[in-house]
Amino acid sequence: MNADSRTRLDRTPEWSALAAHREELAGTHLRELFETDPARGTGYTLQVGDLYVDYSKQLVTEDTLRLLRELAAATGVFELRDAMFGGARINTTENRAVLHTALRAPRDAVVEVDGETPGNVVPKVHEVLDRMADFAGRVRSGEWTGHTGRRIRNVVNIGIGGSDLGPAMAYEALRAFTDRGLTVRFVSNVDGADLHEATRDLDAAETLFIVASKTFTTIETITNATSARNWLLGELKAGQEAVAKHFVALSTNAEKVADFGIDTANMFEFWDWVGGRYSYDSAIGLSLMLAIGPDRFREMLDGFRLVDEHFRTAPPESNVPLLLGLLGIWYGNFHDAQSHAVLPYSHYLSRFTAYLQQLDMESNGKSVDRDGHPVEWQTGPVVWGTPGTNGQHAYYQLIHQGTKLIPADFIGFAEPVAELSEELKAQHDLLMANFFAQTQALAFGKTAEEVRAEGALEEQVPHRTFRGNHPTTTILARELTPSVLGQLIALYEHKVFVQGAVWNIDSFDQWGVELGKVLAKRVEPALTEGADVPGLDASSRALVAKYRALRGR
Ligand code: F6P
Repeated sequence: MNADSRTRLDRTPEWSALAAHREELAGTHLRELFETDPARGTGYTLQVGDLYVDYSKQLVTEDTLRLLRELAAATGVFELRDAMFGGARINTTENRAVLHTALRAPRDAVVEVDGETPGNVVPKVHEVLDRMADFAGRVRSGEWTGHTGRRIRNVVNIGIGGSDLGPAMAYEALRAFTDRGLTVRFVSNVDGADLHEATRDLDAAETLFIVASKTFTTIETITNATSARNWLLGELKAGQEAVAKHFVALSTNAEKVADFGIDTANMFEFWDWVGGRYSYDSAIGLSLMLAIGPDRFREMLDGFRLVDEHFRTAPPESNVPLLLGLLGIWYGNFHDAQSHAVLPYSHYLSRFTAYLQQLDMESNGKSVDRDGHPVEWQTGPVVWGTPGTNGQHAYYQLIHQGTKLIPADFIGFAEPVAELSEELKAQHDLLMANFFAQTQALAFGKTAEEVRAEGALEEQVPHRTFRGNHPTTTILARELTPSVLGQLIALYEHKVFVQGAVWNIDSFDQWGVELGKVLAKRVEPALTEGADVPGLDASSRALVAKYRALRGR
C-alpha cells in the first residue's frame, strides 16, 4: 500500500473497533476467561519449529485476535512483508532494501534486490559464508598463526551496537557449543577500561582482533581498534607487517578498511541491505562462528530460515510473529502499556534482552510516520529484562503489585545443557518451577478472600493481595541449541517488523542516533584543549568547565 494513501491509523474503522472492544473487556479478568473456556490452556497456543508459544495468559479473546488481524490486514502488513522478502526498498528514508532474510536463504534461492545488478544476492551471501567457514576452520585448527607463528587462542571482537550485541549475545547463549580452548571477548565501549580489561591478561602473539563495523566510521570502534593495534604492535615489538595476521575486518566499506591498514583480503563483506541490528547472521557473526564452528553457525541460520518461512507463508491465524507483534499493539495502543519485559529463564540468555533492546527500540523508537508526519499513537515500547530468577528477587515486585501494566515474555527450556553435572542438571526443575509459578501468579493473583482464608491480619490483607491479570506469553523449547536461538531471534525480528508496519513507521533507519554523534565530535576539543564550542548552551558550557577543573586542566 502506498503510505501516502493510508488513512491515519487511529481513524481507521479497525482501530475504532479495537478501542470499543477494549472498553467491553475492561472488567474481564483472566480468571474468568479460564473459567469460561477450560480448553484455553491448550487452545491458545501455537507451534513454530521448536518453539511452543502459549498466549493463553494474554488478555485476549477470539474477538480480540480477529480484530487485531483485521488491523494488520488494513494497514498493509502482509504487502509490506512480501515487499521486504522480495527485495523492495522498504527502508524509504535511506532508499535501501531490507534483506536480512537473504542472509539465511538456501544456496539455490534467488533473492533480487530492487535496482541492483546482478540482482540475485544469494550467491554473494554464500561466497562470504564459505570464506568465513574456511577462515574459521583455519583458526580453529591452528593452521592460521599469528605474526610469531603461534596459534590463535584469543579472539577479541571490537564493534558496537549491531556490530557487538548480536555476536556477544549469541556467544553467551551458545557457550555450551563453543570451543572452550578459545577465549572470546567483546569490546564495545569507548571507555578505555573496556579494551584494557579485555586484553590485560592476553598474550598478543595468540590474539586475533576482529574489527566489526558496517560503516567503518563509527568513532568508538575505530578508536578502540586503533588502540588495539597499538597494543598489539607494542606487545609484539613489531611493525605494521604484524597487522595482517592479527586483524580482520567485517564491513560494507572496503575503502575505509584499507585506510585503517587492514588488508581487504582479510575483510569479510556484507551489504547496505543488511541493517546493523539485523546483521549478526552476516559476516558480523564471525566471532561467533570462530567460537561454535561453521556447522553450528549454519544450524543457527537454518533456525532463522525456518521462522522466516513461517512468517512469510503461515496463515494469519497461526502466524506467530504476527501474533506477538499484534499483542504488543494491543497493550501499547489500547492499554497504555509503556514497556515490555523479556524474561529468559536461562543463564545463557543473559544478553538476550540487551540484544532485543537495540532490535526493537532502534527499529521502532520513531515518532514520525513514513511520510514524515508526526504519529498520533504510541510506537515502540521500552524493552527491558534480565534472566528471570534474578529478576524475581529484584523488580518482579513492581510487575506483580505496582501501578503499571507490564506485558512480559517468559522464555524457558525443558532441558538443561548437556555438559552440566547431574547435580546441577537436577536444579533445572527448580528453575522451571519458578518460571511456571511466576506466570501463574501474574495471571491469577491472589484475592483478598484467599489472603483472609490464610489467617492474615486484616490490615495486611490489601498488601498481601495480588490483583493478577498481568499478561504473559510463554515460549518453551526443549533445549537452547543454535537452531533454536536462530528461531527465537527471527521471531523477534519479525515481531518488530509487524509493529512498525502497523504504526506506519520506517523500522529500518536510525536517524535518532545521529545528533549525539555530531555533538560529541564538537564537544571533544572543548574537553581536551579547552576550545570554544560556538553555540554551546549554558548548562553544557558550565559542565565542560567543571569537568576540566576536576581533571586539573
Ligand atoms: O549508532 C547506531 C548505529 O548506527 C547502529 O545502528 C549500528 O548497529 C551501530 O551504530 C554500529 O555501526 P557500525 O557497524 O557502522 O559501526
